[in-house]
Parts: sequence; structure tokens; C-alpha cells
Amino acid sequence: MHIDTPNQTGAITETTPEIDLALGDAHFPSLHMALLQITRDESLFHEQYADTELLRRTALDTITALRDGKRTVNTELPDAGFVHTMMQHMAGGNVPEEYVPMMMQEMSLLEPDPWYEDIPAETRGKLKVAVIGAGMSGILTAIRLQEAGIPFVVFEKNSEVGGTWFENSYPGCRVDVPNHFYCYSFAPNYSWSSHFSKRDELLDYFIAIVDQYDLRPHIHFNNDVTSAEYVDDGCWQLTTQDGTTEQFNAIVSAVGQLNRPKLPDIAGLNDFAGTTIHSAQWRSDVDLTGKKVVVIGTGASAFQLVPEIAEQAEHVSVLQRSAPWLMPTPDYHDAVEPGHQWLLQHLPYYANWYRFWLFWSGCDSFLPTLTVDLAWQRTDSINAANEALRQRTTEYISGQVHNDALLKKVIPDYPIGGKRPLRDNGMWLTALQRDNVDLITHSIRKVTQDGVTFENGESITADVIICATGFQADHFLWPMNIVGRDGIKLDDFWGSNPKAYLGITVPQFPNLFCLYGPNTNLVHGGSIIFHSECQVNYIMGCLTTLLTEGQRSLEPRSEVAEAFYDRVDEANQQRAWGRPQVKSWYKNSEGRVTQNWPFRLVDYWRDTKAPDAKDFIWR
Ligand SMILES: Cc1cc2nc3c(=O)[nH]c(=O)nc-3n(C[C@H](O)[C@H](O)[C@H](O)COP(=O)(O)OP(=O)(O)OC[C@H]3O[C@@H](n4cnc5c(N)ncnc54)[C@H](O)[C@@H]3O)c2cc1C
Ligand SMILES: NC(=O)c1ccc[n+]([C@@H]2O[C@H](COP(=O)([O-])OP(=O)(O)OC[C@H]3O[C@@H](n4cnc5c(N)ncnc54)[C@H](OP(=O)(O)O)[C@@H]3O)[C@@H](O)[C@H]2O)c1
Repeated sequence: MHIDTPNQTGAITETTPEIDLALGDAHFPSLHMALLQITRDESLFHEQYADTELLRRTALDTITALRDGKRTVNTELPDAGFVHTMMQHMAGGNVPEEYVPMMMQEMSLLEPDPWYEDIPAETRGKLKVAVIGAGMSGILTAIRLQEAGIPFVVFEKNSEVGGTWFENSYPGCRVDVPNHFYCYSFAPNYSWSSHFSKRDELLDYFIAIVDQYDLRPHIHFNNDVTSAEYVDDGCWQLTTQDGTTEQFNAIVSAVGQLNRPKLPDIAGLNDFAGTTIHSAQWRSDVDLTGKKVVVIGTGASAFQLVPEIAEQAEHVSVLQRSAPWLMPTPDYHDAVEPGHQWLLQHLPYYANWYRFWLFWSGCDSFLPTLTVDLAWQRTDSINAANEALRQRTTEYISGQVHNDALLKKVIPDYPIGGKRPLRDNGMWLTALQRDNVDLITHSIRKVTQDGVTFENGESITADVIICATGFQADHFLWPMNIVGRDGIKLDDFWGSNPKAYLGITVPQFPNLFCLYGPNTNLVHGGSIIFHSECQVNYIMGCLTTLLTEGQRSLEPRSEVAEAFYDRVDEANQQRAWGRPQVKSWYKNSEGRVTQNWPFRLVDYWRDTKAPDAKDFIWR
């Protein structure tokens, strides 16, 4: 896979009819803004350009003129004021100014800030950082540390990079955030095959990034970190599974929230005589053809794999404890249109503006719909907009189901947003209505040698049980033994209640930084890549301050961290996912939301833009 460079596109060599054909697939709002940025011709703001035929003709003239050398691209980056005007025009006038710098950074419309150049290379070379995990977040950290000339080692328990996208190879696995946004802001790929590409392509992307940045020499593969102990004075001792130890000044945990598969706590599961598979530990050697398969769970993983395996298995019984809400997404499985792809690859700034469009459309506008109206009486919705969405989505579901008994089962009884809604193009309900698929909602009593018995006394037989039952998400950094200052164990410190300041730093654990840590998961919008970029930026700011101030360690002040936790907890209780009637992996055993970020994305971007020295104890 080729990784593209922001603001650089390929030479235009196509004929005029070929370009015209490509324009037929254009995303017109992005096309419009690209033309504006290329030409800076403000007459293009005129409302007549809402006419896509006129815009297409104008684009054809501009692109052929670029091709023929009769026009040049204005390569000067536009200022924030002009960009804001463009954003307002594109998004219908509702982009608050506070979003502009965040979006410009995401769109590569700001000059990079080589902050580290102010610090002598020798000083930078004195820090040594361990990164645990080579998934999306660990790779990102490695790139930034390498750019900054800070020595580092990445420890990865697997034999390859990619984390989530390496491990989850179940049929149908694909991204649920549009791919032209689910990639690093500084490393786009203009050639994604689909709007929501499959797992193999995601894995290829992360492998290509690692190779492009020549990170492999820094990664110790097949190296499971078992413990990290704070020795003292800005020094951690890290131990890997084979007993090797090494000392570092700082540790960045990039182990993800969704990396340790969870088998369900169902009596008898170990007694099953057939094959048991967890969705995240797929067995490509197990042929499901002609098999009776039971799938436990109806979360995001089951949702993707059931339609695929139903094509193959003799029979599939889907065991549902609670139904998922669906998010209609007609292009969920669609290939990127060839003309659109050509424009991404060849028309300057088209990709930047397409990224803005995707991000803005899936940014913060959904959050009010997921925020509780305290006067609202219903338990299956939380405010008027949430109720309207519930009704629309119920109609969407009802329109696809031709059986009343099934319909009752597939309409969730909790508010939309209680769990992340699942992108749907009709595959799920089509699969559930196949002759060889049953949706069973009885409570499971136990797994037997040859199948599953339910509380109502009924039983089914199975050759294979697939547990699409999620991950040990509440066990952050588990099963590593992390010991902080004064011998305190992170496991004891957190108990069942992991908390970190901005999801990143933890009092009493100096120079320990978490990526995708507590309360940084997203339900209402964005992508985890965006959040990780915010976190890595913040961590680099912390490391710089250590260097510039000649300090050895930093840890957040307890009172600052506590105030943050209170704010987060209070807000999470007022979100759909925090309601008492909602059960999910976002909550710990006491019902506290340990996973999710309850505020706007722009709030997180602002809060992590740079560390505030006053928030920390420096030693
Ligand atoms: C199937 C699936 C689909 C998803 N789809 C989306 C999506 O569409 N959009 C989205 O925003 N998010 C999605 N997510 C969330 C996804 O996890 C993140 O987007 C992202 O991949 C997280 O990257 P990460 O590097 O933080 O963690 P991971 O990708 O989980 O990587 C963690 C890495 O740490 C390594 N590791 C763990 N423990 C140790 C140890 N002790 N020692 C050494 N190495 C260790 C692991 O082997 C792994 O390589 C999805 C998650 C899953 C499970
Ligand atoms: N790109 C994507 O679209 C994608 C794909 C896969 C995963 N993901 C990410 O990964 C997260 C985890 O997804 P996941 O589907 O693997 O896990 P999950 O969302 O935690 O879903 C697990 C499913 O198993 C059920 N379950 C768990 N234990 C059970 C038990 N003992 N008995 C019966 N049912 C049980 C759960 O029921 P309840 O709902 O009742 O708890 C749920 O339906 C997602 O939320 C998402 O963030 C994303």
C-alpha cells in the first residue's frame, strides 16, 4: 500500500473526457472547496455554484487548465479566516470558530511545528522511552518520538504490528468510521478501496506506515511486557515475558482498550466438546461449511460476522442478550467510486476538504441527541431528539422485518446511544431472516458437551460456538503488573475503577502515559485515531517540558485529577450510555462509566493541546 503525503497529489495526465467522467463521481462540496483553495477566486462563493452542473463545468475548466499548464495551484496555505469562511459555506454556516484550528490541523492546513528543534539534539537524546504496543496508538507514538529524536523501544506481544487490525480477522471485520478519516491526519491514503474498508486493508495500511517510517528496527516483536516498576527519580524498570529487564525514563502504554478477549462467564463453556472460538482469535483453520454454529453476542463483532458465516454454515443460532441499535449507512459495503478516487489522488486539496466533511459530519453534532433531558419521562429515550431518532430507527428496522416475533426481538429497549449504534446497510436483518438463522433471546443456563441449554429448559446442539463477547475492557493495562511510586500497584490503586487525568496520566505513577486510556473511548463521533493524535501530542508536550525544565519526572496533582474525574463522571451520567437502564462494556461492576469521553471532541482537542505545567508535580 502506498501512503500519501498531505497536500501532494499526482500529475494530471488524463484526457478531458476522462476527467469529465471522473467528475461525475465527485463529492461536490469537497470539489467546490478544492476549487476555491486552488484558485482563491472568491466569486466561487456565489450561490450559483450550488448548481452541480455549473460546478462540474467550472471544475473541468480548472483541472484541464492545470493539466495544460495554463493555471497554477495556489500553494500558500490559506489563513484561518478564509478557511473558516469556506467551512461555513460547506457546512451551511454552523461551524463555530473554536473548531477551526482543530480542523485545520486535521486537514493538514497548518504548517507543522518542529517544536523539538529548540531543544539541543543531545538533550533530546538523554530521554529513553518505552512504548508498550504496536497498534495504531503505539505506531503513532513511535513516529513522533522518532521525529523528535528521542530514543525509544516499542514492545509488542504479537509477531506483527496493527493491534486490533492484526488480531481481528473474523469474516466481515471492517472499520465503522469512514476510512478517509480513519487514518492518521498526516498520512492519508487516497486509494482506500471502500468507504469502510475491510480489516486486511487496514492492517496493510499500518504495516505500510511502519515501513515508510522505518520503525521496525525499534520494535521488539513477540515481547509481552509483564511488569513495569518505577524505580525512582524518573526511571522505570520494564520486564518482558522472557525475564529480560530494561530501564526507561518514561513509559507509554499503547495496549488499547479492546485487546484482551473476554470469554463469557457461562457455566459449562469448558465442557463443550465442539470447537469454541472467540471473534478476536479467529480460527481460519475451522471450516464452518455444513456446521451448526452458535454465536453468543450481538455487539459490533457479531453484527459483522453473522451475515458472512450464515452463507457457509448449515445453521446459525444467534444468542442475543440485548439488541443493538442500527445506524442506516447505505454505502457501508460500497467500493469508492473510481472518479471520486481519481479526484482524491489528483485534485489538490480535494482530499483535505473531504476529510473535513467526514470529520465535521461525524463530529459533535450528535452529542446533544445523546444528552439527557432531566424532565424526560421515558426510559427508552432521553430527550425529544433522541425519541425522534428512536422512532425513525424503529421504522427503519420495522421496514425490513417481515415477522412480528422477530421484530419484537430486534427493537432495543434502551435509548439510542446507550451503546455505539452499528452501521447497517440491511445485511444484519437480512441475515437474521435467512432460513438457516435463528435469533434466540432466552437466557442461557449453561453450555453442555453438545450445545446450549436455556433457562426455559430448551436446548440447541452445536458443532462450533463463536463467542463474540467482547474484551476485558475494564481491566486497563491488564495483565501487566505496574508498580508506581512508593511501591503502589496500579491494580490496587485502580481496583475496578480505572481513572486517569485526561485519560493519560495517573497520580503516583510518574512518567507513565496511557493512550486510549480510561474515559477516552468515543461513542458520539470522531475516531480513536483522532483521540490518539490528541494524546500523543499532549505526551510529547510533557516530555518536552521534562527536557526544557531539566526535570526528571511528572505526575498529575491529585486534586487536579480528582476534579477532572468528578467532571467526567457527572457528565457521563447525563449521557445515553450512562443511564442506569443501560448495561455495556462502558461501565464497571459498580455502574460507573470507565471508558467513555462524555464531552465534545473539540473539548478534548483543546484540553490536550498542551500540558499545563500547574497540573503536575515536577521532580
Ligand atoms: C474489531 C474492532 C473494530 C474496531 N473498529 C473501529 C473503528 O471502526 N473506528 C474506531 O475509531 N475504532 C475502532 N475500534 C477500536 C480500535 O481498537 C481502535 O480504533 C484502535 O485500533 C486502537 O488502537 P490501539 O493501538 O490503541 O490499540 P490496539 O489496536 O488494541 O493495539 C494494542 C497493541 O498492544 C499490544 N499489547 C497489549 N498488551 C501488551 C503487552 N503487555 N506487551 C506488549 N504488547 C502488548 C497488542 O498486541 C496490540 O498490538 C475497533 C476495535 C475492534 C476490536
Ligand atoms: N469497526 C467496527 O464496526 C467494530 C467491530 C467490532 C468491534 N468494534 C469495537 O469493539 C467493541 C467491542 O465489540 P464486540 O462486539 O467485540 O463486543 P461487545 O460490544 O462487548 O459485545 C459483546 C456481545 O456479547 C454479549 N455477551 C457478553 N457476555 C455475554 C454472556 N455472558 N451471555 C450472553 N451474551 C453475552 C453482549 O451482550 P450485551 O449487549 O447484553 O452486553 C454483546 O452483545 C465495540 O463496542 C466497538 O467499539 C468495532
